[in-house]
Amino acid sequence: MTVIVTGGAGFIGSNFIFHMLEKHPDYRIICLDKLTYAGNLSTLESVMGNENFAFVKADICDRTAVYSLFEKEKPNIVVNFAAESHVDRSIETPIFFCKQT
Ligand SMILES: NC(=O)c1ccc[n+]([C@@H]2O[C@H](COP(=O)([O-])OP(=O)(O)OC[C@H]3O[C@@H](n4cnc5c(N)ncnc54)[C@H](O)[C@@H]3O)[C@@H](O)[C@H]2O)c1
Repeated sequence: MTVIVTGGAGFIGSNFIFHMLEKHPDYRIICLDKLTYAGNLSTLESVMGNENFAFVKADICDRTAVYSLFEKEKPNIVVNFAAESHVDRSIETPIFFCKQT
């Protein structure tokens, strides 16, 4: 089973990754994260050496990067935790929280 976890360097995503690697040591877990102000790679330090874990720095809005990762890893499941989650920031700079086309 291959699981891509987006936003996995954040609070909830990193704990989900720790849980999955512990409960399902045979699963391959790939974290895709943009490492915004909220993401911190040091959070995942304890699993970086795990051969069933990989980190990819990318933006979920980057369709090419996401499709290319899907093509390479062929995930069975994608779990999304990527978010602009700071309410104060959404009030200060709402444009970051809107989809731009
Ligand atoms: N923290 C909580 O207690 C809590 C409770 C319930 C639900 N949630 C929800 O869970 C989700 C995650 O919350 P969190 O507290 O872990 O947030 P967080 O801010 O700690 O983590 C968000 C992660 O998403 C990444 N990210 C942001 N934009 C991205 C993008 N465009 N592409 C790739 N990665 C991107 C950030 O780098 C960061 O690592 C949110 O939807 C939040 O509403 C959180």
